[in-house]
Amino acid sequence: MSSPSATFTRRAALAQAATGVVLAQNASPAKVGLIGNGNRGTAHLAAYLKMPEIKVTALSDLDSARMDTYNAKLGGGATKYVDWRELIRDKNVEVVAIATPNFLHPEMAIAALRAGKHVLLEKPIAINYQLAKQIEAEARKSGKVFAVGMQRRYRTTDAHVQQLVDSGIIGAVRFINISEYRGDWSPRGWHYKDPKSGRTANWRFLKSAAGSTELEFSVHAFSQVVQLVKSPLARCLASGGIMHYKDHETRDVCEGIIDFDNGVRFTYTFCLFAQGTPGRTVIVGDKGVLRYGEDGAILLDTPGAKGKTPPPLTGHGGEPAEVLMYKEFLAAIHERRQSVLSAAAAMDAAKIAWAMEIATVESRIVTAKDFA
Ligand SMILES: NC(=O)c1ccc[n+]([C@@H]2O[C@H](COP(=O)([O-])OP(=O)(O)OC[C@H]3O[C@@H](n4cnc5c(N)ncnc54)[C@H](O)[C@@H]3O)[C@@H](O)[C@H]2O)c1
Repeated sequence: MSSPSATFTRRAALAQAATGVVLAQNASPAKVGLIGNGNRGTAHLAAYLKMPEIKVTALSDLDSARMDTYNAKLGGGATKYVDWRELIRDKNVEVVAIATPNFLHPEMAIAALRAGKHVLLEKPIAINYQLAKQIEAEARKSGKVFAVGMQRRYRTTDAHVQQLVDSGIIGAVRFINISEYRGDWSPRGWHYKDPKSGRTANWRFLKSAAGSTELEFSVHAFSQVVQLVKSPLARCLASGGIMHYKDHETRDVCEGIIDFDNGVRFTYTFCLFAQGTPGRTVIVGDKGVLRYGEDGAILLDTPGAKGKTPPPLTGHGGEPAEVLMYKEFLAAIHERRQSVLSAAAAMDAAKIAWAMEIATVESRIVTAKDFA
């Protein structure tokens, strides 16, 4: 692994204690090439603009105008490639960041790893388990750092909840319920032509491009759950369908009941036609309950005391989630270790989404055997 030397301060050590992030200092900037300059690419771009430890040397998108807009914000120094394979071959790129629609993830990630690049791939890792295993195997073989961009663990609410649960304030986690609501996907999403059906639509509407709604959207919540539960998926029941957007192939409602090996139960609800409705999370432990909505105000219930304000989050620093994600990724490169957002971590979260898809489509209980 290429690794400029790095020094670490006491402040960095404290930040790591809270968020798992080590801040590399006195290192030359990592040369990053970003494939996919759409909606999510802008969050990567915003992080790069805040991070002197990153230099964007290349951009790739099918849409040249998008690359021009990004390049202008970066000061115009990046090489632009309509063909992403040329970016991967570029010797001036050490890290390939991939923010393209889900169906493109395996081909791009595997090619970048084979070209000797570190890879930060947007979530979800892949649209099915078999493809994700191929990426995981390639990442292992490459010796490069491979991470999946599930940045939500660095959001203050998620980091705070994790810290509270890890502190033992609610005892052992027993039950989690999450409900999420939103309006339809942005109509500005890139349009994909499905080669089998010949249909062209926003890629998030098409199963062949997105996988499923659970994989595209809910995987962030699933990532939080697997970090809290720390136990493999045991079984999953699910049901869902297309109730509102009749032109979509991906579900607009779904419900899941997921049990883990350690006996924790997780129940999940999603609705895509509930504009502006706040979601809700309830985490039940054997000594107390944490609950919060999308405003992030966490309340603690313990026997005899409802709605208390829990101890505050410490050591987070308040930086944007994407900046903290990239800092941990770069620290993994410098320290020659895997990122906390490894392929294995991404697959633990994605397994809930893949399980809900199988359970819904095949009307059956999915177990760990489905992921042998
Ligand atoms: N981590 C998060 O919170 C988060 C949020 C939103 C999206 N995402 C993920 O980011 C990825 C991209 O989503 P988006 O919202 O930016 O989609 P989008 O439709 O806004 O943008 C996709 C971009 O990819 C480009 N593209 C398509 N095919 C390409 C190719 N062969 N080569 C180069 N560029 C190509 C398109 O031109 C477009 O600019 C998805 O995997 C999505 O799941 C993650």
